[in-house]
Amino acid sequence: MRLAIKRNLSPLLVCLIIFNASVAFAQKSVRANRQSATVEQKINFLLARMTLAEKLGQLQQLDGESDGRFRPEHLELARKGLLGSTLNVRGVKQTNELQRVAVEQSRLKIPILFGFDVIHGYRTLFPIPLGETASWDLQAAEKSAHIAAQEARSAGVHWTFAPMVDIARDPRWGRIMESAGEDAFLGAAMAKARVQGFQGGDYSQIDRVMACAKHFAAYGAAEGGRDYNTVDMSERTLREVYLPPFEAAKNAGAGSFMTSFNTLNGVPATANSFLLRQILRSEWKFDGLVVSDYTSVAELIKHGVARDGSEAAQISLNAGTDMEMVSRFYNQSGAELVKSGKVSIKTINDAVRNVLRVKFRLGLFERPYADENLEKNTIKKPEFLQTAREIAAKSFVLLKNEKETLPINKNVRKIAVIGALADDKANTLDWWAGDAKAEDSVTILQGIREKVAALPTKIRFEKGCELNCDSEKDFGKAVDAAKDSDFTIIVAGETRDISGEAASRTNLDLPGKQLDLIKVIHQTGKPYAVVLKNGRPLTINWLAENSPAILETWHSGTMGGAAIADVLFGDVNPSGKLPVTFPRNVGQIPLFYNALPTGRPLETENRYTSKYIDSPNTPLYPFGFGLSYTQFKIDNLRLDKTQIKRNENVKISVDVENVGKRDGVEVVQLYVRDLVASVSRPVKELKGFRRISLRAGEKRTVEMTLTPKDLSFLNQKLQPTNEDGDFQVFVGNSSEGGLEGTFKVGQTAVAEKKN
Ligand code: GLC
Repeated sequence: MRLAIKRNLSPLLVCLIIFNASVAFAQKSVRANRQSATVEQKINFLLARMTLAEKLGQLQQLDGESDGRFRPEHLELARKGLLGSTLNVRGVKQTNELQRVAVEQSRLKIPILFGFDVIHGYRTLFPIPLGETASWDLQAAEKSAHIAAQEARSAGVHWTFAPMVDIARDPRWGRIMESAGEDAFLGAAMAKARVQGFQGGDYSQIDRVMACAKHFAAYGAAEGGRDYNTVDMSERTLREVYLPPFEAAKNAGAGSFMTSFNTLNGVPATANSFLLRQILRSEWKFDGLVVSDYTSVAELIKHGVARDGSEAAQISLNAGTDMEMVSRFYNQSGAELVKSGKVSIKTINDAVRNVLRVKFRLGLFERPYADENLEKNTIKKPEFLQTAREIAAKSFVLLKNEKETLPINKNVRKIAVIGALADDKANTLDWWAGDAKAEDSVTILQGIREKVAALPTKIRFEKGCELNCDSEKDFGKAVDAAKDSDFTIIVAGETRDISGEAASRTNLDLPGKQLDLIKVIHQTGKPYAVVLKNGRPLTINWLAENSPAILETWHSGTMGGAAIADVLFGDVNPSGKLPVTFPRNVGQIPLFYNALPTGRPLETENRYTSKYIDSPNTPLYPFGFGLSYTQFKIDNLRLDKTQIKRNENVKISVDVENVGKRDGVEVVQLYVRDLVASVSRPVKELKGFRRISLRAGEKRTVEMTLTPKDLSFLNQKLQPTNEDGDFQVFVGNSSEGGLEGTFKVGQTAVAEKKN
């Protein structure tokens, strides 16, 4: 606490001021301690009264029906106080009925914790997290999470199993769609925004839910990009690349973590005390709840680290997994494990404390029931749908736009829309669609029709082929439609089932014969644009080479179709930037921008340098890339210092000008390279970004500051360190190119030149 003491006060008066301030401070701390002590005291009060069976019951989470109903068995367990939590049970009718049994009929009346996968929306669905991350709009990410929390909490859900904060450098992995992409800095920023959106400052509030940082940890680095597969990586890579988003989530106050299915360096995450005790609890001081993933306790048997369920329960509990999702070995074996001393009662009590602590923090003891009226008045509010439409439009990435093919001129009178994905309601949803209903969605075709409804524009829709596009028999109709139109919109990509969990692909081409369909449309010579609808980077080399315009729209949620029409017709200027690299081919994977230089960086003329003999090293589209309907000029890079001490900042400024004819948004990105250090450092690392909205002709200065933390890294002993040396900065609108500058870090600043 700092006291502003005026110079001319009498010494007595100064003492009085200091005394009063100290008393006030002491009273505040006592109040705060009493506040938190109340929670811990309440936990102790309950714990002292709980039987072992009731304690083990709190560590059990069971699965409801996919439509939100609880199972008959849940009522019995709730009545006996043996059900700590459920997943998938949702809707006030369902949650209140089950909760009433737990709170009014059980011995200790401990409320049930209702969890659900609200990954990017509850009923109002936002773009998939990978798509939303492409907006680079942290406020948007926080806002969509808050809307999701409002809908979910109103429906009786207390806990979302989100944000998924796994770094994903491998697009073969289907769950990349749930991630924030390949970069730790952007991923950490998104993790913080999403946790804050879900939880706010107090997740007992009726418009908030508890967040869950998942999947702890390094799940996205599954070998071969094959879901659930082995993860093996250095502690350096773990700490520098895969853990930062988790630490950001924890620092943002995430109430829970979920363990991942994979082994990490031979030890399954669910039984990994290095992750759960050393990093999460002792290094990060996390005091929330750790839940396993779906039967991941039981899977320790298949991992070959547990002979049976009892041993699986033993090693998970001892490693620090508090709650068991769906499998029941904690309950089935817990009593015997305690009796035999294989698991101490302290371990059980600590796990139960973590469960009870989040239930108190959620306010469940004070307010265990949800309100049906609130649910009715909250779900799908018009302003939520409008926000979903705006955020979807921000998530789209314009990958190509030759000769200003886009936006489509509204004077165009005949438009062909081709592709089954353009009008398939079911596929407006994606793998993690929460409680969203397809019938609520706007398809791309609907969005286009609505956009031109007031105009004398004819729309002709032809699928060209079914969703799996395994036949060319209807290509002719699509070609006729294109020939008979002034402009064609081809919608291509992935159906929802080949993205998300358990959907790894060995090739990243457009599935089926979609590319053949695009080629025959291309041959008509008529103008067209490709709208991609997908959950991962795709190897769209032919499109990149030949198609006049490509708009990446990901899976874009309930209002995606309307948002796509907004961008196609120019009512919204696209501003998205790729959060993940698009490789040219699967052989390049893993391919990410912030790689190490190697001792033989590519020299095309020199055989003996790091390259392929059958492919360029460069990506098809780089991290951070995205076009606009207008053009931005970034120039006049300046640094406020070119020599700093290790503990000093350096301020980077550039001027950004909208030199085009349309208002637009640019994402200015700041990358840094540490040229020489005690360990090899990446060729560049994202250390700052700013979304800046500029009217046509407008010019503004963007400033970003590099701090010592931005320049720190792990030395050879894995200790965070800052070293002297030369640094490069790159400022631009992609991870490639940009204005370059340099500065030095030295123990002592260069002595001021004495004249
Ligand atoms: C799934 C996922 C996890 C999800 C959980 C509950 O298998 O791995 O992300 O939260 O089970 O649905």
